[in-house]
Amino acid sequence: MPQSKRIEETAADASRNPQHILTQEYRRTRAVMEAVAAPLSDADATIQSMEDASPAKWHLAHTTWFWETFLLREHAPEYHLYDERWPFLFNSYYEAEGARISRFARGMLSRPLLEEILEWRRVVDAAMVPLIESGAHDDLIRLGIAHEQQHIELLLTDIKHALFQNPLGPRMWSEGPDVPAAQAAHSANTATPEPTQARELGWHTHPGGVALIGHDGPHFAFDNEGPRHRTLLEPFALADRLITNREWSEFIADGGYETASLWLSDGLAWVREQGITAPLYWRGEDHFTHAGWQPRNPDAPVTHISYYEADAFATWAAHHHKGARLPTEFEWEAIARGQDGADTPAAHDPAGGNQLDNQLAGAAAPTPPIPKGGRDLFGDCWQFTRSAYLPYPRFAPAAGAVGEYNGKFMSGQFVLKGASCATMRGHSRPSYRNFFYPHQRWQFTGLRLAKDI
Ligand SMILES: [Fe+2]
Repeated sequence: MPQSKRIEETAADASRNPQHILTQEYRRTRAVMEAVAAPLSDADATIQSMEDASPAKWHLAHTTWFWETFLLREHAPEYHLYDERWPFLFNSYYEAEGARISRFARGMLSRPLLEEILEWRRVVDAAMVPLIESGAHDDLIRLGIAHEQQHIELLLTDIKHALFQNPLGPRMWSEGPDVPAAQAAHSANTATPEPTQARELGWHTHPGGVALIGHDGPHFAFDNEGPRHRTLLEPFALADRLITNREWSEFIADGGYETASLWLSDGLAWVREQGITAPLYWRGEDHFTHAGWQPRNPDAPVTHISYYEADAFATWAAHHHKGARLPTEFEWEAIARGQDGADTPAAHDPAGGNQLDNQLAGAAAPTPPIPKGGRDLFGDCWQFTRSAYLPYPRFAPAAGAVGEYNGKFMSGQFVLKGASCATMRGHSRPSYRNFFYPHQRWQFTGLRLAKDI
């Protein structure tokens, strides 16, 4: 056999090797987090704008602490902790891992320096690769990769909130390819009112019946996504696109934020106490993005809304769409799986839509995450459901410290489905359950209506 042929086959075998694939996924995820943080100075990466948000430097360190604590410390006998003082700084909420600094003190960590954290990442990566290649801890490694992918999205939403605090409106990236279109739409909008360019709402209908909900099978999922179980659905329909900025402006113009009858009691109290009059990051016809202040595209999906706002909008929208409301998580998942009657029999593509791409080191043009709009069920914005974040029947947290990952947060939060423009493509799936408190809106949160039929 010619030498070149043998090399090609060896490479092909390696690419099919499950451990090689897992190593590649580990490296890709670590590289994306560092590429996302690359435009930040040490000062940018250190500041913390609120208790809900963590500094970028802390995300880079905490994800590394996760590998060091749960993989290397436990399963690599020759590995020594990089700095024995650092677990106290970078443990997030794991009671089983002992004491840690308070959440709001994360922004006080001017030391270690960003460059020291990046060096720690290189040391941990060098130790992790042989552990991954050993094939002994695949499930925990997949959890670590999914964890780091979640923190990539949190890093992006947290730094956006931090930069927003600065009156200079600093930008991480220059304008993305979608911004000229937004500017064009804005120019048209300010000259003469244009007819709506977003499509009329269409609907995915479901005849009702027993739906199978939750993760099942050999692929990775978080513990909160299972067990698979049966849920009874009444006939319903789910909108085929998200609510747009233009529609949200109509809600505002119609007095939506001042009309008490549209709001949940807690929501109205929140609006009044906080003086809320628009989605987070709105200012006039502009909005704040990772590319600084930009004109809003009226036909792009609205984002950075709370559960309270989403619910009030759905109540208001019932004037236009009889029976409009927020979907349940079970309705959303049933449509995502393709259990949606005769009109769209195929399952929706979890890797479709506008998600985080092109952030790898060396990419020609990192793209600022901004919702764009489209026909996909996934992408652009996480979508509020009216379902409380609760355990599924027969749910049991994972064994060990990582059992603290999801189950202990099942109180007072709502489930969001889909994926956003800041979600790494391939990270989400129909059974994925994101969750936030009803007042929180610094994530890329949006709204897809449902209705009874
Ligand atoms: Fe974490």
